Amino acid sequence: MTDITSQTEAALAAIAAATSLDALEAERLETLGKKGWVSLALKTLGGMSPEERTAAAPAIQSARASIADALDAKKAALEAAALEEQLARETVDLTLPAFAAPKGSVHPVSQVMDELAEIFADLGFAVATGPEIEDDWHNFTALNMDETHPARAMHDTFYFPDKTAEGREILLRTHTSPVQIRAMLDQGAPIRIIAPGRVYRSDSDATHTPMFHQVEGLVIDRDIHLGHLKWTLETFFKAFFEREDITLRLRPSYFPFTEPSVEVDVGYSTEGGRRVVGGHGDAPGHAWMELGGSGMVNARVLEFAGLDPMEWQGFAFGLGIDRIAMLKYGMNDLRAFFDGDPRWLAHYGFSPFDQPTLSAGVGARA
Ligand code: PHE
Repeated sequence: MTDITSQTEAALAAIAAATSLDALEAERLETLGKKGWVSLALKTLGGMSPEERTAAAPAIQSARASIADALDAKKAALEAAALEEQLARETVDLTLPAFAAPKGSVHPVSQVMDELAEIFADLGFAVATGPEIEDDWHNFTALNMDETHPARAMHDTFYFPDKTAEGREILLRTHTSPVQIRAMLDQGAPIRIIAPGRVYRSDSDATHTPMFHQVEGLVIDRDIHLGHLKWTLETFFKAFFEREDITLRLRPSYFPFTEPSVEVDVGYSTEGGRRVVGGHGDAPGHAWMELGGSGMVNARVLEFAGLDPMEWQGFAFGLGIDRIAMLKYGMNDLRAFFDGDPRWLAHYGFSPFDQPTLSAGVGARA
């Protein structure tokens, strides 16, 4: 009897002193485990006479109960302490700057597309999209280039081997102009959209890559004329390059889908080997650089797209996004845009937090 009492006291003291779940488990095995002394004592009850058993049992039972309670309580306390310790160790400091470990950056092309959308949204233009895998009707025919038109051959088109259900050739769009057709067919007139996106031509050198980016612009309304086009482009370029001295030259040209057609040149100078947009191209030390094509939408194109040319007129333009990005941010090799070199991206990329806004500046750098 005294044996059990002192053994129980010793066990309870050991349980109270346990500093880890492992130590506690060792103590459980020594007492309540299969070969623990409490379990063995319980077994001896079976071999006792009824009188002996009645005398011995209560002490053993109560030793078992108090040890089991103490084990449970201590286990709960140790687990709670372990959780507290883990929570303290794993704190996240929400006040740390998010810029501490930059892992990725926004590609200059994406950044410039966001800048375009922001500037043109302010002029009332919505952003439209179309498929990069196009058919030749949208890419050529509806843009007034039928099967025999020489301009088709000039586009260095990537064709797919199959045809559409209507028997149209399938191709990678060679320009964003098919989005003009899709927008007119989808929404009718009036229209004010830009359509930035990827285009493809089988062409590659320092200034040409097989995939590049254009932004199409299309305005259809009543009484639209070339003056609206020039003002729109001038206003855009002033906002985009963030300078007032932008001078545009509209140079007569030819596109099957515009009439008249003009190429858009901008005056620039060269400072420290870098082209800087601004000033009149004919001024000393200046020259003109072509930025894209444009013109009044050809009446034939309006008809293909289901609009009455006697009622609706419009202008369209197509600009190279990569080129205006290079001019604004100072890169000189187009191919590096698409190499995915992390050093280039770290240097020329933008922080995702650097959202272009008209109020904060469309060219702000982090
Ligand atoms: N789609 C023409 C090109 O890629 C550019 C353009 C667009 C010209 C719209 C006129 C009007 O060369």
